[in-house]
Amino acid sequence: MKILHTVEELRRWSRALRTEPHDDRAQMIGLVPTMGALHAGHASLIRAAAARCDAIAVSIFVNPTQFGPNEDYARYPRTFEADCALAEAEGAAVIFAPTVEELYPATASTFVDVEGLSARLDGASRPGHFRGVATVVAKLFIAAEADLAFFGQKDAAQVAVLRRMTSDLRLGTEIVVFPIVRESDGLALSSRNIYLSSKERVQALALSRAVRDVEGLAAGGERRANVLIEAAQKIFAVEPGIRVDYLALVNWATLAPVEIADPGTLFAAAAWVGPTRLIDNTVLG
Ligand code: PAJ
Repeated sequence: MKILHTVEELRRWSRALRTEPHDDRAQMIGLVPTMGALHAGHASLIRAAAARCDAIAVSIFVNPTQFGPNEDYARYPRTFEADCALAEAEGAAVIFAPTVEELYPATASTFVDVEGLSARLDGASRPGHFRGVATVVAKLFIAAEADLAFFGQKDAAQVAVLRRMTSDLRLGTEIVVFPIVRESDGLALSSRNIYLSSKERVQALALSRAVRDVEGLAAGGERRANVLIEAAQKIFAVEPGIRVDYLALVNWATLAPVEIADPGTLFAAAAWVGPTRLIDNTVLG
């Protein structure tokens, strides 16, 4: 596995593959964008990518522009050596690990703003977050020239923003989404779970409990959004250590709230567990 640090190197790697057909067909190139601190959720994406593509690039870049001024950019976990070992074991051909200066030269003044969508859900409580995500993912897509890019449903609002960006800019990379990987007790895996104390780790289960509860009620035929959200609110009400950021039933493409939760509706939750903000969601069947 090679470790590349510049956009030029990544582009050269990708273009070289294009000139080498595999079994008389063009090679399928996959990209898995990450911020590192890789866990089994990331591993599942890399594995899925390796199953569908001939060559996979995993990017590891803690993207400063998607963090707010009072967020955890400086202390975000950085575990580069372990990340490389995991990515290689799951089938990555290259790691793309650029410096901040490589992706954001001092004179950079171009950003990608997906209007409307970027102000909803996480975008409402983290102003500028999705502008940073869209900008860095556009840079990664343009550099990697991949056929497919793999994302987790864990960040469902991010998926909506990136799908819209890819479609609006006619980027030639198709977005593929894979399910949320959870701990055995239901907690969605997140690089931020390491911030949780043992008490907060237990409190954090309210998120996955709310998700399961809403799934269960919807499966039983309850489709009224206000009733489903009230049920979720009740779960958080008995967890005083948690402050809800949002509980929402939205159309997954537009992130606009719905009154009736039809199949395909996204139930998304975000909550502060002590100082740590966690998210979870489900797409109703
Ligand atoms: P990061 O949080 O590192 O996540 C990288 C990818 O892993 C995302 O697509 C995310 O949805 C997925 N992922 C995280 N936890 C998961 C879980 N429990 N199950 C399945 N997939 C999971 O998301 C980002 O980085 C950044 O915003 C990025 C897109 C790289 C842009 O900087």
